[in-house]
Amino acid sequence: MQNAVINNKMNDTFLKACRGDDVDYTPVWLMRQAGPFLSRYRKVLAKVDFLTACRTPEIAAEITIQPVDDLGVDAAIFYSDITTTVVPMGMDLSYVPGKGPVYANPVRTREDADRLRVPEDVADGLGFVFAAQQICARELANKVPLIGFAGAPFTVAAYMIEGAASHTHVNTRRMAFGDPTTFAVLMEKVTRQTTNYLRRQAEAGANALMLFDSNAGMLGPRDYRELNLPYVKRILADLANTGVPLIYFGLGQHDTLAEIAACGADMIGIDFRKDLRSAVEQLGPAVSVQGNIEPYVFFETRERMERRVAETLSGATGARGHVFNLGHGVPADAPEAQVKALVDAVHRQSAR
Ligand code: CP3
Repeated sequence: MQNAVINNKMNDTFLKACRGDDVDYTPVWLMRQAGPFLSRYRKVLAKVDFLTACRTPEIAAEITIQPVDDLGVDAAIFYSDITTTVVPMGMDLSYVPGKGPVYANPVRTREDADRLRVPEDVADGLGFVFAAQQICARELANKVPLIGFAGAPFTVAAYMIEGAASHTHVNTRRMAFGDPTTFAVLMEKVTRQTTNYLRRQAEAGANALMLFDSNAGMLGPRDYRELNLPYVKRILADLANTGVPLIYFGLGQHDTLAEIAACGADMIGIDFRKDLRSAVEQLGPAVSVQGNIEPYVFFETRERMERRVAETLSGATGARGHVFNLGHGVPADAPEAQVKALVDAVHRQSAR
């Protein structure tokens, strides 16, 4: 199933930690590590816009690999966005600098949901992703694993309903509770597209797959269990036979971690608002943990940042495995030297 080359020259510490195997040090990568805080990233994005960068395989591959070379992280995450996955379903996506990804045709009615297509062949409209991942897999074969990803269905559906990033998600709530049939039609279609998309990434060379559920905390535990988690479980169950580690990050879900531990992922991402030690207790011994230092830690002094790295490493003692990460994405204005210093500190402090 898996085409990616894992040879003895690849640093597979990240994959080992995902599975709970013994490691020589705690591996680290950072959400949004391929982003505007990197000077080489800014140089590329001065010449092309965000969506063009995502859709040009050579550029997307180059940006994916930048943080591996410049920061020394133990995994690459494919450069793309959760909003591009559903464009072939009929979503009209553009990128507004300062605002982010925007859909011109938000899904608000049953007719809107019925109109969405799930292409038979997921490469139909997303071929550039798999082409870029083949380049990445080749160029990373002697370096580190490649993480493929998608947004979790609830997070992507909320984006499709709102049409842009939202803090209140009023349209999503209105549909989920006021028109559950339309919401279910939408979730069903997004779930199918997401499963096809992630499976094809494993075939193209992704060595691990991650579901970003950044809107998971929009719902309280009761509604999360009913309207979100079942779809996540279905996707992860479908992907179990890819053989690659599966990662789930449900931002803002803290009371349901015992249930999340059983969602079918090998590793669970924890956000910065949750105490890591208590997260590990709730997750139990069957999964690894990823996280969760404060994303603005880069603005602390070097000494204080070092101390916080030690605290985070210590918080994960007792976990089956730990992959160090932020509790959310790297800020666009994080000082690059501090980001590099954090990666070095994790490696130095955790060396066994
Ligand atoms: O982590 C990585 O480096 C991999 C690439 C990646 C991006 N977006 C690139 C990106 C990943 C995994 C994402 C996921 C994503 N995108 C999420 C889920 C994770 C999260 O952050 O909560 C969401 C909600 C989005 C939607 C999105 N994309 C927004 C709201 C924005 C604009 C606001 C912002 O923070 O910049 C984006 C743009 C985006 N996606 C950038 C990058 C590198 C910034 C583009 C630029 O300024 O050059």
